[in-house]
Parts: sequence; structure tokens; C-alpha cells
Amino acid sequence: MIILGIETSCDETAAAIVIDGTTVLSSIVSSQIDVHHSYGGVVPELASRKHIEAIVPVVNEAVTRSGICLAELDAVAATRGPGLIGSLLVGFTFAKGYSRFLRRPFIGINHLEGHVNSVFLEPDPPPFPFVALLVSGGHTSLYYVTSHTEMECMGQTRDDAAGEAFDKVSRMLGLGYPGGGVIGRYAEKGDPKKILFPRPFLPKSPNDFSFSGLKTAVNRYIQSHENEYKDRISDIAAGFQESVVDVLASKLIQAAMEKKCAHIAVVGGVAANSRLRDKVTKAAGKKKLTVHIPSIEYCGDNAAMIALTGYHYLEKGEESDLDSDVYSRVAQF
Ligand code: KG4
Ligand code: ZN
Repeated sequence: MIILGIETSCDETAAAIVIDGTTVLSSIVSSQIDVHHSYGGVVPELASRKHIEAIVPVVNEAVTRSGICLAELDAVAATRGPGLIGSLLVGFTFAKGYSRFLRRPFIGINHLEGHVNSVFLEPDPPPFPFVALLVSGGHTSLYYVTSHTEMECMGQTRDDAAGEAFDKVSRMLGLGYPGGGVIGRYAEKGDPKKILFPRPFLPKSPNDFSFSGLKTAVNRYIQSHENEYKDRISDIAAGFQESVVDVLASKLIQAAMEKKCAHIAVVGGVAANSRLRDKVTKAAGKKKLTVHIPSIEYCGDNAAMIALTGYHYLEKGEESDLDSDVYSRVAQF
């Protein structure tokens, strides 16, 4: 089954063509970072307009690079939510129209399920069941994954997502948007033990997360060191990153022990963080767990994960109605 996937939930316009949920023929991602950078975050109205400009060239490029002709496409999958409503509508509506024109089935996909399935884009994917940590700009959750289409949420963030905390701390330090990559680069030059920030472990609900107190602690440090903090950006970044990564890695391992799973996964934009990748790999090694983390290109938003997930729903005989709508939050799904 050859599937065209489309993803426009936030600030990336993406299209990909994937065979049988495994072989990626093409994966195109057009980022809007330059548009939003100067605003310090994603401006929803600008994002939708940029998706409208990019969607046709991005889909055309995915088709051209795949080497297939349109008649060979078997279905179209597109992200339905959660995300920014205006952005989602562009890709979702385009995908509906495209499937109608091709006379092929259409399927709407949950973006978070897409991220969890991104580990199956790699050569040695995990067997079911496994525990996945999803860390992105909008979500931080632990899932007990029993199939490509069935996953139980074991816990999630009560306030800021991990990526959101990186973005906000980056803004406080004047390092711009998005914050993950730039904080990671500064952290590499800093000493994580020099400035110790709190580690929010929430012992009463071990599978939940909370990063807003940590973000406030960084803000307080900056305000109380108004004159010196600019010379300590690398140490602040390293201390902050170490705190986030310690909490994420330890909760993931704990959740895997709770579910007696031998395989774990880390997915989503923050999974690109090299300190997180190292820490999870080392901690898992001590407990004899096997770690699965997508290559960097599939950590951030992409459409290959949407096409792959679409394949598994279509294989189960599911399709979406053309009058189905997008949703902004998980609870509405
Ligand atoms: O999954 P994603 O591309 O989009 C959402 O679904 O939100 O995740 C984007 C998030 C942003 O908050 C960004 O700062 C973060 O992932 N991120 C990173 C790194 N690269 C991207 N966070 C930490 N370290 C990185 N290297
Ligand atoms: Zn995402």
C-alpha cells in the first residue's frame, strides 16, 4: 500500500510517501522557523498562511522525489489533531480534496500516535508492548503501547511540556525560538553541576510531569543575577537541561519497570536532544532495557510518521469521513 502522508499541525509543512508502513520513498519538511523566530514563538495566523503557500509545492516535491506516479497512490493520510486549528485545517482539507480527486481512501491521524509510531521508520523497531516517552513542544507523556493503533496514556505533564520549557528558557536567556537546539548547544559548553535547579519528580504521581516550577527557578536565577547571568548562559543551559533530562530518563525507566517491558522508546522533537539520548541509553543499559529513538529527521514533525500510522489504520479497515473535522486538544479526540 503506497500512502501519501500530510502533516501541518504546527509550524512545519510536511508530505511523505511511504510503502506498507515501512519504506519511506520521500519525506519533505518545509520549516517556518524563520517566520516565527523574531516573535519568540509560533504565531498561529502566520503559520496557517505559510501552510497555504507551502502545501502544494511540498506535496508535489514529495511525489516527484518518490518516483511514483499519482495513480499508484493507494490512500491519503493527514494529521487531524492535536495542534493549531488553522494550521491543521490546511493539510487536512487539502488531503481530503486530494483523496477525492484520486478516488482513494482518506484517513485522519492523531499527531501523538504518529510520533509514537516514528520508531517504526527505523531499521530495528521495538516489539509490542513497549513504553514510549513522547516529548515535544506541546506534549510530554508516557504511553504503554500495545499496537500501532492502541496506546494507553500512563501519565502526562500537568503544565508545560518539556519542549515548551526549553523554548521558554531560551526566550528568557535571549536565545530565540525554537529553544531546544540552541539550549542543547550552549549546554555542551557548560557545567551541569555549577548551577543546580530543582528536579520535579512528583513522587505521589510518578508518571506525571511538571516543568513550570523549574522554568520559574531559572527565571528567578536570571533576575537575581541580573549583572552576571549573561556570562553564565552555558552553565544555566547545562543546569536546566540536566534537570529536565534527569526527570525524563528516570520516569521512563520507572514506567518500563512498572509495565515489565524490556523495550522503551523516546519520540518527539525533544528526542533530538543528545544529552537525553545519552542519558536514556545509559540508564536503560543498567536495567537491560533496549532503547529505540528515531533518527533526528524523524524526531521533529514529519509526514512519514503520519503515512505509516495511516497504513495501520487502513489495514484494519478504518477510513475517515470527508465531513470529519480537525481538533485542537487531545481530550476532543
Ligand atoms: O515534535 P516537535 O517537532 O513539534 C511538536 O509536536 O511540538 O517538537 C518541537 C519541540 C520544540 O519545543 C523544540 O524546542 C524541541 O522540540 N526540540 C528540542 C531539540 N530540538 C527540538 N528540545 C531539546 N533539545 C533539542 N535538540
Ligand atoms: Zn510533533
